[in-house]
Amino acid sequence: MEGVKLRGQSFLDIGFGQGFSLLSAASMGARVVGCDINPKCGTVLDRSLPLFPDLVGLKLDVEIGSILDPEVVHRLRGRVAAEGGFDVVHSWGALHHTGDLRRANDRAASLVRPGGALVIAIYNRHWSSPAWLLIKWLYCKSPRWVQRALVSLLYPVIWLAKLIVTRENPGKKERGMNFFYDVVDWVGGYPYEYMSVPEVGALRELHGFRLLRAISAKVPTGCNEFVFSKTDNKGKVASPPRTTPIR
Ligand SMILES: C[S@@+](CC[C@H](N)C(=O)[O-])C[C@H]1O[C@@H](n2cnc3c(N)ncnc32)[C@H](O)[C@@H]1O
Repeated sequence: MEGVKLRGQSFLDIGFGQGFSLLSAASMGARVVGCDINPKCGTVLDRSLPLFPDLVGLKLDVEIGSILDPEVVHRLRGRVAAEGGFDVVHSWGALHHTGDLRRANDRAASLVRPGGALVIAIYNRHWSSPAWLLIKWLYCKSPRWVQRALVSLLYPVIWLAKLIVTRENPGKKERGMNFFYDVVDWVGGYPYEYMSVPEVGALRELHGFRLLRAISAKVPTGCNEFVFSKTDNKGKVASPPRTTPIR
C-alpha cells in the first residue's frame, strides 16, 4: 500500500479474511468497508478490532456475500454512489479463490472511482501451478485421512522449497498464521487460479487502468502485488499515487 493515500479516503477490502488490512487502513484514517463471502470472517473481524486500540468503538461496515454476486456489488456501489466509486479497492489474495478470477477482478475494478486505485494480490503463474491445482482439488474431494496424509507429505517439501528460494527460515514469520496452518491453507486453498504479472497487467490496462507498480512474488507460486490507477473520464490518470518504478 506504500504510496497510496488512505487518510479520508473510502476503502473497500474484498475478501478481508481476519481483517488486518481493513483495520490497518481504518487505523490510517480511511473510511473502510469490508466484503467477504464467509460469515465467520465477520466474527473474526470483530475479534481482531481490539488489537487496534485507536479503533475501539468503531462501527465496522461489512457486507457478507460474494463479490461475484451482482446484488452484493450493487449494495457496495450504493455506499459510495455520490462519489462514483471507492477511492481505493483492495483485495489481497482473495480474487483467485472466488472460482472466477476474471469476473471477480472486473467486479473489483468496477467499484473504483475514476482516478482511484485498485490494489490486488494474485497468485503467480509458474510451471508447477497446474500440479498445485490438481493437489488442491484432490485435497478438497478427499476424506480427512487423505487430507492429513497430503499435508504431512507436502509439509517438508514446501518447507525446503521455501528455505531454498527465500534463504529465510520458513517458520519465522512477522504476521499471519504459523507455518503449519500456512501449509494447510496452501494445500487446501481451492478454488485456485493464477496469472503472470504481464497477464494481470494486460487484463486491467485493456479496461481503463494503468499499472503503476508490480511487486513480484517472493516464491514462484506466491502472490504478485499490483497497484493500478483507474483513468479518469478523459483517459488520464487523475491523481497518480506516489510510487516506485515497476519491477
Ligand atoms: C486467503 S484469504 C485472504 C484474506 C485477507 N485478504 C488476507 O490478506 O489475509 C481469502 C479470503 O477471500 C474470501 N473469499 C473467497 N471467495 C470470495 C468471494 N467470492 N467473495 C468475497 N470474498 C471471498 C475468503 O472467505 C477469504 O476470507
